[in-house]
Formats: sequence, C-alpha cells, structure tokens
Amino acid sequence: MASDQSSRKYLQQEECVEYEIKELISTLPRQNGWLASSLYQYQGFWHAAAYLQGLISCQNHFQARDSDVFLITTPKSGTTWLKALIFALMNRKQNPIPSATHPLLTHNPHDLVPFLEIKLYADNQKPDIASLPSPRLFSTHIPYVSLPESVKSGSRCKLVYLCRNPKDTFVSLWHFTNKLRTPEMGANNIGGVFDRFCNGISLYGPFWDHVLEYWNLSKDDPEGAMFLKYEDMKEQPGVHIRRLAEFLNCPFTEDEEGLGLVEEMLRLCSFDHLSCLEVNKSGKLSSGEENNAFFRRGEVGDWKNYLTPEMVDQVDRITANKFSGSGLQLR
Ligand code: A3P
Repeated sequence: MASDQSSRKYLQQEECVEYEIKELISTLPRQNGWLASSLYQYQGFWHAAAYLQGLISCQNHFQARDSDVFLITTPKSGTTWLKALIFALMNRKQNPIPSATHPLLTHNPHDLVPFLEIKLYADNQKPDIASLPSPRLFSTHIPYVSLPESVKSGSRCKLVYLCRNPKDTFVSLWHFTNKLRTPEMGANNIGGVFDRFCNGISLYGPFWDHVLEYWNLSKDDPEGAMFLKYEDMKEQPGVHIRRLAEFLNCPFTEDEEGLGLVEEMLRLCSFDHLSCLEVNKSGKLSSGEENNAFFRRGEVGDWKNYLTPEMVDQVDRITANKFSGSGLQLR
C-alpha cells in the first residue's frame, strides 16, 4: 500500500481494500460514516471498510496462544490509557520504572500495543506475529461475536475489556472524529451524530451491544475475561491496576509495593504525564493520526458540557433498557 494511502486510511477506507472486500461490502447494509464516507454492518456491528478488511484477515489467519493478552474496548473508552498501563505492567522486568529510557517516554501507546484489525491485519493480511515473544500483547475493538475462533474457544488467552459510560464515550468520539476531519469536511453536527450513536450507527457500534457481550463473557468466564470501567479506574487506579496485575498472573511483589512501583506506574501512564510528552504533543501514528488526538481532557462527566437534558434522557433510557437484567451499571 502506498504511504500516502496508508497515512490517510482513516479517511479513505474504501480506497485501501482489496477486490474481495469491495465485493463483500457491496452486499452489506451501508450508512454514512462519521469520518470515512461509509460504515458497513457485518455480524451485527458497524465497521469502516479498511478495518473490516483487517477484521476478516484476522478471523481467517490469527492463531491465539494461551499466553496472549488482548486489550479490548469500543473507541474512546480509554484505550490509550489502558495500553500504557498494561504495557508498563507486563514489561516491567525489561523496562524498569522509573527510568529515563522507558519506551512510553518516546512512543505513543498505540505504537507499543498495536491494534489487530486497524494496524497489524490492515497493513498486511498475514503479518509476522508468530515470531513475537510471549506473552504477546494485542489490542482490538472487534466485537466478541467477530473475534477469531482461536481467541474465543481455541485457547486460554486473557481478555481485558475496558468500558466507559456512553455519554462521555459519545462526546469523546464526536470530538475525535471532528479533529480528524479535513477543513473541507467540516465538523459533524452533534445532534446528527448523536441520533446515529443512539441508533447504534457508530464505529464498532451499537455501543451497548459491544459492551454487553464482553460483560456477559466476564461473568461466564472470570478467569479468561476481565471487565474494567474507566470511571472506576479514574476513582481508584491503584485498586484496579493491582486487580489487573493479579488477573494477568503478574501480581506486584512485596518488594515492588515497598518501592512504590504502583504509584510510579500510575504516574508514568497518567493523562497529565503522557499528554505533555513531546511524542504525544507533536508525533503522528503511521496511520496518519496525530498523537495528540488521543489526549483531550481525560475526565469523567464532560458530557454535562455538551448534551441537552433531552439527549441525556434518551441515552439513559437506552442504557437502562439494553442493560436491563444484566447486572451491569455504568455511571
Ligand atoms: P476525552 O475525549 O473525554 O478526553 P481512546 O484512548 O479509547 O481513544 O479514548 C480517548 C479518551 O481517553 C479521551 O477522552 C482521552 O482524553 C482519554 N485519555 C487518554 N489518555 C488518558 C490517560 N492517560 N488517562 C485517562 N484518560 C485518558
């Protein structure tokens, strides 16, 4: 793929896909995208063309290992933060903390923990990931229903799912897509994209179905899938990073606790620290997005500044309805 194509993939999705995927998407339900021109409904969820190609390559070729770790989110749920935390946690022997040469000081977390369908299998239908050292750490937005079979049932790999309340997720997504739209495209009208979000038509939407699938999985298989909430992580990051370390079979030792490693790790990965690093202020991902697009406010409840009482009511009703009987509550 030509470099100018790859650097604009998030906008020119259809131009980046092979003939077979063009054929496939011509048969799928289509809606207008928020960023790229179209979204296509595949296995119940909405996808941009190039990322759908990545998803299908992944379904066809990815072979999970028992030691693999997958970090899964819907877009704008705090993926960048969790990537940083899990990378720091799992690599703390090779990359001690604190250190003046820690990779997070010079690399955006998305470059350290690649997306399966957006990066690895979108750039190359058969990327060389078999040679990666174990445990391999991957991230994805793929809905549970569409995960490769070897992840779902062929291995004892670990899935970590992070979710965020739908109102902040929506506001964050609206800002993010506006930032990546060209001046000629202009910003999306908030009311228009809000209606589409509520109708499930957003990247990897319906939001609620995505969350619910992984919530149910975490209830059925607590050893294999962990469910985290952005709001809880903001409130008690120390509690949840320790839970995460236990879940990933790499708990903090007494020595590490004594040295204050948990606090150092949280500081390294904090919004205030990461967003001020030069790489995140002025760098770009190979796919073309500016790193600073992934850092905006990093707070809980910013939706209060954007949503009308009617919008709030509408999201709250959908959430109550969709999650009814599941035991899942989002703030
Ligand atoms: P806001 O737009 O509400 O500020 P994702 O990483 O899934 O794309 O999500 C992006 C959201 O996470 C943005 O939310 C961003 O500011 C926030 N974020 C990024 N890094 C963070 C960090 N280290 N801690 C907390 N939130 C962070």
